Amino acid sequence: MGIRASVEPKMSAVQEHVHLSRSEVCGIMREELYSEEDFQQAQTHIFIVIGASGDLAKKKIYPTLWWLYSDGLLPEDTYIVGFARSKLSVQDIRKQSESYFKATTNDAEKLDSFFKRNSYVSGQYSDDASFKALNQHLQSLPNGSKANRLFYLAVPPSVYHDVTRNIKLTCMSTVGWNRVIVEKPFGKDLESSNKLSEHISALYQENQIYRIDHYLGKEMVQNLMVLRFANRIFGPLWNRDHIASVVLTFKEPFGTQGRGGYFDEFGIIRDVMQNHLLQMMCLVAMEKPVSTNSDDVRDEKVKVLKCVPELTLDNIVLGQYVGDSVGKGEAQMGYLDDPTVPKGSHTPTFATAILYVQNERWDGVPFIMRCGKALNERKAEVRLQFRDVPGDIFQGQCKRNELVIRVQPDEAVYTKMMTKKPGMFFNPEESELDLTYGNRYKDVKLPDAYERLILDVFCGSQMHFVRSDELKEAWRIFTPILHKLEKEKIKPLPYKYGSRGPAESDVLMQNVGFRYEGTYKWVNPNKL
Ligand code: NDP
Ligand code: BG6
Repeated sequence: MGIRASVEPKMSAVQEHVHLSRSEVCGIMREELYSEEDFQQAQTHIFIVIGASGDLAKKKIYPTLWWLYSDGLLPEDTYIVGFARSKLSVQDIRKQSESYFKATTNDAEKLDSFFKRNSYVSGQYSDDASFKALNQHLQSLPNGSKANRLFYLAVPPSVYHDVTRNIKLTCMSTVGWNRVIVEKPFGKDLESSNKLSEHISALYQENQIYRIDHYLGKEMVQNLMVLRFANRIFGPLWNRDHIASVVLTFKEPFGTQGRGGYFDEFGIIRDVMQNHLLQMMCLVAMEKPVSTNSDDVRDEKVKVLKCVPELTLDNIVLGQYVGDSVGKGEAQMGYLDDPTVPKGSHTPTFATAILYVQNERWDGVPFIMRCGKALNERKAEVRLQFRDVPGDIFQGQCKRNELVIRVQPDEAVYTKMMTKKPGMFFNPEESELDLTYGNRYKDVKLPDAYERLILDVFCGSQMHFVRSDELKEAWRIFTPILHKLEKEKIKPLPYKYGSRGPAESDVLMQNVGFRYEGTYKWVNPNKL
């Protein structure tokens, strides 16, 4: 049986158990996750963190491996090997990453045993001798020459070429399987992304490549498929006849925090819109896949993207934050005040863009994507706004229904709807059907996106990873506008740190038919 076919039914086991607490999850999970078949090629797994000295490794990769280890979810015989240029020891890795582990004093013994499974090799990314030394080290681990190998590329894109080449030439397991996890950015435009894809696919097969978009690992993003395809109530309404617009939002309440140098090369469209928001849009817009098999799901996502014409300048509003002179601390600093940002940069830190999916289901429905830094709140959500009720008998008192899938923080699904005002009244009033996770699933520990995704790689499930043809289509949609903005040096609109972004964004949304009434008031039941 192929890898995918053997693994995906078991992934539903992960989903079934995420409502259990961490400790409840331990023990039962590993057996459900892995079968003998998974270990046919090799019993031992080696997870190699390339770029082990870096920020991502310290804040995300090592902590995630620790959580999986402490929950007993990694295959029993797993080793972790760090590789980077800095001359470090396991002790150094431990020192820099342990504060992100959220471990308690009760974990002391387990932490020691986790770090006993760790080792570190220092070397140069472009040097084959360094990779030969890495391979020798991998072989020297118990059963190392027969192990399955997972390579996590936590390195800047400038070294992807060398690293992927050197892994292929010197570090591949000849007995077990090999999987390579690649972090975004996957290129800067269609051409650079194609070049990178061609390079990587000349070295590895698609089923060995795991392109991470960590939004695909988030609870509520994964829930989109279940809400849509496991319920009868939404299906008949999920189309242009009933839905007026779809809004996909990403907001962060902080600016570049001194890391503007990196951000400035990319800007908000490449950083968030072209990947995180577009992936969510695909899950909202796609047709029902034939099955939950990875390629069936990804086939449907690609079909959606193929129906999306290139983004045009009249369908976008760009912003760049300026300091708020009466704000506190960082809020006083505008994007251009960050010393790591080039003077006079036109890089947008905010964007609202309208995309259309030109197929029978969605023709004419605006998909409004909004993302920005230094805004008034942290929020990621998907909002479907329904059309007006036809043949109104309530003298214009009805407000549009909305279905909101709140991705973060405070995961929730809620439907804004009209109900009879309770009591001696007969007029409609705005209310909601509210599935707030914190109320419905008390004491639930939702796994972090990286936990799910790294576990998926161990299990060989590619459903929540980006396939090369998806990537190509995503860049096709955004590359022309990105080039135009850069060539014509189009200046973004200023917006104040801590605001909702430029007012022109609301105007654009209104022009394509999104209606904001400003009358809805939610009463949090926890605060009643
Ligand atoms: P609102 O009607 O307040 O907002 C609807 C949308 O309008 C939002 O997307 C908002 O976007 C946008 N908007 C806000 N101000 C303007 C404006 N001046 N012009 C144009 N658009 C605007 O309803 P919400 O659904 O947002 O609910 C209100 C609050 O109640 C939220 O904080 C929500 O999370 C909370 N709530 C929570 C629930 C739960 O957790 N279970 C259930 C129901 C509600 P923008 O992001 O730009 O502000
Ligand atoms: C990353 C972006 O992909 O996502 C960052 O590069 C952004 O700029 C981050 O801050 C947001 O992730 P999350 O999970 O905190 O919403």
